[in-house]
Amino acid sequence: MSWLVTGGAGFIGSNLVQLLVNRYPEKRIVVLDALTYAGNLENLASLEGRENFRFVRGDIRDRALVGKLFDEHAIDGVYHLAAESHVDRSIMDSGAFIGTNVEGTWSLLEIARQRWKPGEGRFLHVSTDEVYGSLGPDDPAFTETTPYAPNSPYSASKAASDHLVRAWFHTYGINVVTTNCSNNFGPWQFPEKLIPVVICNALAGKPLPVYGDGMNVRDWLFVEDHCEALDLVFREGRAGEVYNIGGGNEVPNLRIIEKVCDLIDGICGPGASPRRELITFVKDRPGHDRRYAIDFTKVSAELGWAPAHQFDDALRSTVEWYLRHDKWLHSCRSGAYLEYYEKNYTGR
Ligand code: NAD
Ligand code: DAU
Repeated sequence: MSWLVTGGAGFIGSNLVQLLVNRYPEKRIVVLDALTYAGNLENLASLEGRENFRFVRGDIRDRALVGKLFDEHAIDGVYHLAAESHVDRSIMDSGAFIGTNVEGTWSLLEIARQRWKPGEGRFLHVSTDEVYGSLGPDDPAFTETTPYAPNSPYSASKAASDHLVRAWFHTYGINVVTTNCSNNFGPWQFPEKLIPVVICNALAGKPLPVYGDGMNVRDWLFVEDHCEALDLVFREGRAGEVYNIGGGNEVPNLRIIEKVCDLIDGICGPGASPRRELITFVKDRPGHDRRYAIDFTKVSAELGWAPAHQFDDALRSTVEWYLRHDKWLHSCRSGAYLEYYEKNYTGR
């Protein structure tokens, strides 16, 4: 029997695939990934040649291909991570977000419905805390019963996919479980997201773009902690349930950026001047959610999960990882990346 991991060449997917291939040698781990700009086979290079690992390039909406993979590999579990994942890109052009996040999830659910009898198999849908919208400074953290209130095309498309997953459980009895997680950081994150953008630009001596007043708050979680939660929820989560996953670690963006600057100064030396001097306030993101915070009591009480990494240590090891992987960083920042960067930041 085999497990299918969609989006396994992306940031969280590639970290998860490393864990699964190593932890479950008796399971074949089949990665399906379209290798969009965010997918990178280099992220999985260390698994090349492993007996229980297969990579297939393809789109989750290609039903003939996905059906064939289910049949050929006797897929009895799906970790669904494939998505368009970047909020700023969704604001520029939402089409791919509806295509992959909504239609793609629907298509996978339909294949699972055809191939599995009710109660058979396992479908883990990996989603985001952004579906719950934005919190005020004194609001309690998001729980699994917080009403949905997505504010960006990205979060709206993820909310739609969550609803499809829920409906396929109640209507067709597909054995689903959904996780809604907060902001991840760690190795292999594409340098369009805040922490790798800041590391890249700080190393290159370029401006560090802060949207708005820099006081938007995110709840940061080290990616390895997220992957441990996914492994646990996949195996032990109750069918049809939702589990919130978070770091219990709320930090304003400006503070994160300052921390990264200080870490790089400490490791590489400050150069001509401290990297904090590169901090540049730019026009805010439209619809920018002010604060996210996750209450992860349910996954903790039911399944015994809690983040194992301490934030400052994990941030330091992440910065060190990017310093060691400058070739990888360089390869991400290709022509298409520069085009996106221009469009998002120039004249902002
Ligand atoms: P990512 O953008 O790094 O990776 C997405 C992967 O999906 C890429 O490898 C890409 O090639 C692939 N993909 C995109 N469209 C596809 C398609 N149509 N068919 C097949 N593959 C396709 O994303 P990520 O940050 O690793 O996020 C993974 C999942 O976790 C997403 O569903 C995201 O919504 C969710 N999530 C992310 C975070 C975070 O902080 N990054 C937090 C919570 C939840
Ligand atoms: O909360 C989970 C979500 O976290 C995931 O579902 C998304 O896939 C993931 O991209 C992330 O979304 P955010 O929009 O929170 O992440 P991002 O790294 O783009 O931005 C983090 C914060 O930093 C946000 O408040 C916007 C701000 N920011 C971001 C960038 C790229 C800046 O101030 N400057 C920047 O250049």
